[in-house]
Amino acid sequence: MLKITNIEVLKENFYILKAIMQDEREVLPGNFFMLKAGTDVNPLLNRPFSVMDVKGNNIYFLIKEIGKGTKLLKKKNKDEEIFALGPLGNSFMNFINGNKKIFLIGGGTGIAPLFFLSKTLRNMGRNYTLIYGAKSKSQLVIKPHIEMENLNVIYFTEDGSFGEKGLVTDFVRNIKENSIIISCGPKMMMKNIEGLISSNIKHYVSLESVMACGFGVCLGCVIPTKLEGYEKYQRVCKDGPIFDAKIINWEKF
Ligand SMILES: Cc1cc2nc3c(=O)[nH]c(=O)nc-3n(C[C@H](O)[C@H](O)[C@H](O)COP(=O)(O)OP(=O)(O)OC[C@H]3O[C@@H](n4cnc5c(N)ncnc54)[C@H](O)[C@@H]3O)c2cc1C
Ligand code: FES
Repeated sequence: MLKITNIEVLKENFYILKAIMQDEREVLPGNFFMLKAGTDVNPLLNRPFSVMDVKGNNIYFLIKEIGKGTKLLKKKNKDEEIFALGPLGNSFMNFINGNKKIFLIGGGTGIAPLFFLSKTLRNMGRNYTLIYGAKSKSQLVIKPHIEMENLNVIYFTEDGSFGEKGLVTDFVRNIKENSIIISCGPKMMMKNIEGLISSNIKHYVSLESVMACGFGVCLGCVIPTKLEGYEKYQRVCKDGPIFDAKIINWEKF
């Protein structure tokens, strides 16, 4: 169970849900939780959300209101308890080794796990750059939170209203070999990044898929991958959500 402590409403239908974990759990960047949005069977399925931050027992999720579940979560009251399963899934930390430069590229709610990862890398003294892209300035919804943490960030807006004008993919062309890219955001963004980079650059993606159980049994979240020349379906919840972008079958996903 998680106990809600605050709902911070941001711009563009985004909000940050802050809660207290009532027991001690190790939560790593990239992990997600399945949250129960309603109080009865409607909606029946718990909803997956990446962890945006953890401070002691406090946990934060950046949520975009899109349907029934995300609307119900936004209406939760302070001190209300919600059923939560987690932490689930693998972590970015499994893929970070050596001294390579690390580029974290995010947009939309995909910025949430990258915020957590940026803070972790900064605290470890690692060389990282966060690239945060949106259509316009008003959609850079966690810009104040990034600035408060003094993270190493480059902003991109499509209309040029803040930061560099253009798409985050414009930046990718400059990334040299001996770097690691981690991307999280719209599927096309991640697919285009993979298409633009040299095959020697490691690229990991955090994927989304509609989930039912969240822990590997229902097979509702599978995605097509290519492993040693064979097509293989893998579970986003259990085998991911973070995958090597080179094994995703982007044409079928
Ligand atoms: C591992 C993982 C991490 C996620 N992290 C976040 C996060 O940090 N913040 C956040 O806001 N959202 C995140 N999501 C997406 C989030 O789970 C969905 O937006 C949410 O479940 C929608 O619930 P709903 O009841 O409001 O919408 P519904 O009423 O269920 O659906 C509304 C519409 O959204 C579509 N939809 C539902 N789920 C998804 C999905 N996973 N991907 C694309 N379209 C979907 C539906 O097909 C429908 O058209 C994550 C998903 C996964 C799998
Ligand atoms: S959501 Fe059930 S196997 Fe992934």
